[in-house]
Amino acid sequence: MTKTTQPAKQVNEVVQRAKKTLNDLDAKSWVKATKSWFVINPRSRSREQMSHPAKYPEELVRRFVTYFTKEEGWILDPFAGVGSTLVACRESDRNAVGIELNKEFVDIGQDVLESTAGNGYQALLQGDSLSSKELITEHFTEEAPLFDYVITSPPYWNMLRKSRGGNKSVHKEREEQGLKQYYSESENDLGNIEVYEDYIKGVTKILIRLSPLLSDKAYLTIVVQNMRDVDGILRPIAWDLARELSKDYDLRQEMIWCQDNKKLGCWGYPTTYVSNVHHHYCIILQKRPIE
Ligand SMILES: C[S@@+](CC[C@H](N)C(=O)[O-])C[C@H]1O[C@@H](n2cnc3c(N)ncnc32)[C@H](O)[C@@H]1O
Repeated sequence: MTKTTQPAKQVNEVVQRAKKTLNDLDAKSWVKATKSWFVINPRSRSREQMSHPAKYPEELVRRFVTYFTKEEGWILDPFAGVGSTLVACRESDRNAVGIELNKEFVDIGQDVLESTAGNGYQALLQGDSLSSKELITEHFTEEAPLFDYVITSPPYWNMLRKSRGGNKSVHKEREEQGLKQYYSESENDLGNIEVYEDYIKGVTKILIRLSPLLSDKAYLTIVVQNMRDVDGILRPIAWDLARELSKDYDLRQEMIWCQDNKKLGCWGYPTTYVSNVHHHYCIILQKRPIE
């Protein structure tokens, strides 16, 4: 059990007197949300949602949006997939815009959103998030909102296209079930970039271009994993993105999302070290105040 250093009641009284500017949490929930690792096991997905190869859980989004925004805040997800961010925002009374390249995923996300109870305005736009500004300006015929927070998960390079032992069996399983193994064939899909450095540049460019759409000091959370390539070398996606993005945003922290309900694979036995990777990095950045 996590112990706090100050009694929550005491902290709460101090907060009552100060204005809550970041979120609507009481002191106890605030402290809990700041723990740098946590376990979230995704809820089961509908058959429709299963057709996306790498959806993240709504519970993960809810944990972050309730910490980094207040009710009715605006959230942006430039790699929205089947709209998990938007679903979580609806369930948490937040407004959200998602951008997703693949129309098939957009359609699934819109269906799921329609059947989700909650409040706020949520829109899932189809397009290349390199043009986020143009897509958002076009969507809001009147003035577009400034976003208070970004939460997103880009493709983990082209790893869905590579056979890497355990990954291969996941591919096989999905193939057998008639499910999609990749995001798309589009050349604008970051999951189709071959050269690692080009992929890092591609994600960085998209995320840095979002800056004018964000309110002053807005936070961003980027969910990624470091990946072992077919040659056995680890591609430190999370660390490389953190380094590149910190040239334009302030790097605040990393949090580790752990999953403890995944099957352990017997990779490498009995000769080679290959780990079962059941955690993701959540990189926390913040827009620099305009000087
Ligand atoms: C890791 S998935 C995100 C899944 C999402 N968080 C969810 O829960 O459904 C990455 C997504 O980025 C999309 N994508 C790749 N390149 C893109 C681009 N240039 N613009 C917009 N979306 C892109 C892919 O189609 C894929 O759905």
